[in-house]
Amino acid sequence: MAVASAPGRVNLIGEHTDYNGGEVLPIAIARRTVVAAAPAQRGRRSTVVSASQEHVGTFDARQPQRAGAWWDYVAGVVHELGRIGIAVPEVDVAIWSDVPAGAGLSSSAALEVASTLALLALARRDLPPRDAALLGTRVETAFVGVATGIMDQFASVLGCEGHALHLRCDTATAELVPMTDAVLIFDTSVARSLQGSAFNQRRAECESALERLRHIEPGLPHLAAATAELVREAELPPPLDRRARHVVSETERVRLTVDTLRQSGALPGELLCASHESLRTDYECSSPELDWFATHAMQHEGVTGARLTGAGWGGCAIAVGAEDALAAAAPTLAREYEARFGRTPRVWLTRAAAGARVEIR
Ligand code: GLA
Repeated sequence: MAVASAPGRVNLIGEHTDYNGGEVLPIAIARRTVVAAAPAQRGRRSTVVSASQEHVGTFDARQPQRAGAWWDYVAGVVHELGRIGIAVPEVDVAIWSDVPAGAGLSSSAALEVASTLALLALARRDLPPRDAALLGTRVETAFVGVATGIMDQFASVLGCEGHALHLRCDTATAELVPMTDAVLIFDTSVARSLQGSAFNQRRAECESALERLRHIEPGLPHLAAATAELVREAELPPPLDRRARHVVSETERVRLTVDTLRQSGALPGELLCASHESLRTDYECSSPELDWFATHAMQHEGVTGARLTGAGWGGCAIAVGAEDALAAAAPTLAREYEARFGRTPRVWLTRAAAGARVEIR
């Protein structure tokens, strides 16, 4: 038997930039998915059970097929390992997780990464961390069929206690940056599913914007490499102008944030607030609940920045600052939110936590 675990993530800044070749700054959070895998009994198909799911999943390890179900993330890992020549036998897989699903904390990446490490350990094989993260991303994009970028799986694999992960998505290169801030995660309890959201539409809009910008600058490698002047000069038709403006300005904000973090160890909260504003107006992926949090969190002493995190359209927001200030603000924010929206939010205080690891080999 082999056991591996992998964390969820929150992104501090750099939203909707990863699939545009831009930069992101996530942390791994102190919530993990644990995957145990053992060879199945002779002659049996692979089975997957999860503490949070009623149904047992099954698939054929020799030829895993997409079932449109939660165990696709595990079947997809077997499929992708097979593609790079790592044959996994029929397996029994058991999953436990405290990363909430559908909240924008990358429960799917945590499952992909923990499954990848557990199945590799079972097959007595190893992959460099970067390749394990890219394999997890392929499960999401090629097997499950959601056109996400590489951020979530990289954060889950490479995250490190006390550090944010500065990831350049054009080259998939990453550096750890020490960080002193605590992070309050506020789940608005408005569920979102990437498959059902406008995520793929936004991605297509970014591709059209890039195509148009290339009429002016043919060598432009990706949208995040455009300058604000180029975007202005191109006079893209709405909403492509706003989408491009967000991606370009957000990439710049990540760079400035990383500079400040390196100098002081603290996040420049005003840039996180500016990121939220850009996501609300230019990328149009916020919600009234997320906007409410971003505004109200800032009214508390010691909270230095607040914004939506992840894809948006529901899910989670974050506030950053000193741990005691965030802990003091949390109950009031939760109470006021419930009174305003009639939904009970879930709130967690976290710090940058450790990345994925094999627990039992
Ligand atoms: C989702 C995707 C990520 C990223 C964010 C938005 O979490 O899985 O790859 O695109 O949305 O920044």
